[in-house]
Amino acid sequence: MASSEILVKRLIGEEIAPYVDDLARLRIEIFRGYPYLYDGDLIYEEQYLRRYLESLDSVLVVALDGARVIGVSTGMPMNEADEVFQKPFLELGYDISKIFYLSESVLQPNYRGHGIGVQFFTEREAHVQTMQRFEWACFSAVLRSPDHPARPDDYEPLFEFWKHRGYKRYPEMRTTLTWKGVGRMEPTAEVMEFWLKHMDT
Ligand SMILES: CC(C)(COP(=O)(O)OP(=O)(O)OC[C@H]1O[C@@H](n2cnc3c(N)ncnc32)[C@H](O)[C@@H]1OP(=O)(O)O)[C@@H](O)C(=O)NCCC(=O)NCCS
Repeated sequence: MASSEILVKRLIGEEIAPYVDDLARLRIEIFRGYPYLYDGDLIYEEQYLRRYLESLDSVLVVALDGARVIGVSTGMPMNEADEVFQKPFLELGYDISKIFYLSESVLQPNYRGHGIGVQFFTEREAHVQTMQRFEWACFSAVLRSPDHPARPDDYEPLFEFWKHRGYKRYPEMRTTLTWKGVGRMEPTAEVMEFWLKHMDT
């Protein structure tokens, strides 16, 4: 695959609606793998993803191979995101109206390593800059111990990829998010750690 064959488009507000089903499909497909191990269902997805449609300033970046959606990346202002993501910022006294939350990036495995993930960051950050009211962009990532039994032998953490995009890990900023893991009967609380980038940098 050449990345030039892939169309990457940035969509905002009402333009997002036609892609919400693709986002749900890809979240369930990709987050089933390590490290997320998310046993997703469409009912939860519909409820979770409604936030993007209700937010005027949310962004969705879509990667298309022809008519087929092969990757999606999203974000929204932190003050419109779920309270669990706001919590560590409020506890530390941040003004959450100045923070933009980069929610997720999901790309099918056979399209990785061609720069699409980099474009997901540049497009979302360009959207954040356009609004001129955000000081920080941030995202959260699930915390897994290096000896987690489900970790594939060839698994490469995304830490270097995120550092190269200018994000810094803040180990003291954590929250918990509850989801049903693959092979589990009940949802469990998973620890999420935050990464931040100042928008002037
Ligand atoms: C996160 C994810 C979207 C990254 O996607 P990706 O397309 O493989 O990432 P890229 O190809 O853009 O970047 C990977 C590396 O290849 C490089 N690269 C390869 N070809 C490139 C090109 N043509 N142009 C620019 N960069 C390129 C990038 O620079 C980057 O290296 P660097 O960090 O040293 O700069 C993908 O790994 C994924 O979906 N993972 C599973 C879900 C997940 O964990 N998501 C994150 C949490 S929500």
